[in-house]
Amino acid sequence: MAPLIHVVYKVLLFLQDAPFFLALLSCLGFVLLLSSVFGLLGFFRRHLRSGKSLSRYGLKDGAYAVVTGASDGIGKEYAKQLAQKGFNVVLVSRKLDSLDVAVTEIQGRLKKQVTLKAIASDLSQGAEDAKNQLDQLNIDVGILVNNVGISYDLPAPYHELPLERVRAMVNLNVTAAAELTHWALPKMLDKKRGLIINVSSGSSLVPAPFLAMYSATKAFVNTFSEALAYEYRNSGIHVEAVTPFHVTTKLSKIRRKSLTVPDPAAFVRASLAKVGSGGFLNNPWFAHDVMGSVLALLPHSRAVSLVFGELKTTRKRALAKKAADEKKADAEKKTK
Ligand SMILES: NC(=O)c1ccc[n+]([C@@H]2O[C@H](COP(=O)([O-])OP(=O)(O)OC[C@H]3O[C@@H](n4cnc5c(N)ncnc54)[C@H](OP(=O)(O)O)[C@@H]3O)[C@@H](O)[C@H]2O)c1
Repeated sequence: MAPLIHVVYKVLLFLQDAPFFLALLSCLGFVLLLSSVFGLLGFFRRHLRSGKSLSRYGLKDGAYAVVTGASDGIGKEYAKQLAQKGFNVVLVSRKLDSLDVAVTEIQGRLKKQVTLKAIASDLSQGAEDAKNQLDQLNIDVGILVNNVGISYDLPAPYHELPLERVRAMVNLNVTAAAELTHWALPKMLDKKRGLIINVSSGSSLVPAPFLAMYSATKAFVNTFSEALAYEYRNSGIHVEAVTPFHVTTKLSKIRRKSLTVPDPAAFVRASLAKVGSGGFLNNPWFAHDVMGSVLALLPHSRAVSLVFGELKTTRKRALAKKAADEKKADAEKKTK
């Protein structure tokens, strides 16, 4: 401590004698340096620290994990890995046939005896039906994963997004999470334990022009999760949003995994191992956290422009591919 006090004393002496602008610049530099150091420390803390043990969320009591959008992609992986850890699981998705396939697949790989239940409900029409079906199961809910969500088919200006899609996006990305959380919290409070993971997106970290609606719904998820995390942190309930960038699923349309694009299994493994390590906002995949941290270091308007530039390029490529596919389909039709 003594050397630090000595350095601060020397700095103060220097500032006292320095011309005003030099002193001002030095102060600004010091604040920037300090915030970078804290940012860096937080980054390493997140990735070196192990997450909360999931068993505290009712594993021994036979509690259930409820996972939405669980028949495919990231949601199916949450359902599978939570079942592998010994939780009973309720899978919620739109289509019963895809749910049945997912349940059979998960059941086939289990070493522990758990119960898997499936609820088919179209959450784009609201969450009332899903809540009624969940009520009928009369379960102890230890974990809720609000995963269901949709995005754009391709980046586009907002007026080109069909209104039906806008409404479905609000219902799936916002209403489903808000209502199912409202449904689960009293049950969790009753048992004095609970974990709520809200699947947000890297697109929430700065506004994403050409994905305006998606990015805004996911920003809601972050704000909602942060506020709830404070409200319930002394009640044994942990709430967090996870903010992945690309993951290899139908939604991203990316098939090949890489360092920056994990498959759902790797992403969910990281998420479940790191619960709580990032506070209320968790970017458990290392490369995604690097990407998010770089965005956070940039001036806000620069970050938004950068994202816009990327999305303009993605849109151009997607439109070119669409045109080529249509041309090919036309040619095939003519030769038949
Ligand atoms: N993949 C990525 O790169 C990425 C990146 C950032 C964030 N995320 C977020 O991660 C979450 C999961 O995405 P994903 O990539 O795993 O998506 P996905 O592979 O397309 O899976 C979506 C799941 O949601 C279900 N679903 C779709 N519409 C539904 C509806 N109307 N009612 C009920 N269930 C419905 C699907 O079931 P059906 O088979 O019945 O349609 C499926 O089980 C989303 O919130 C997404 O925003 C994904």
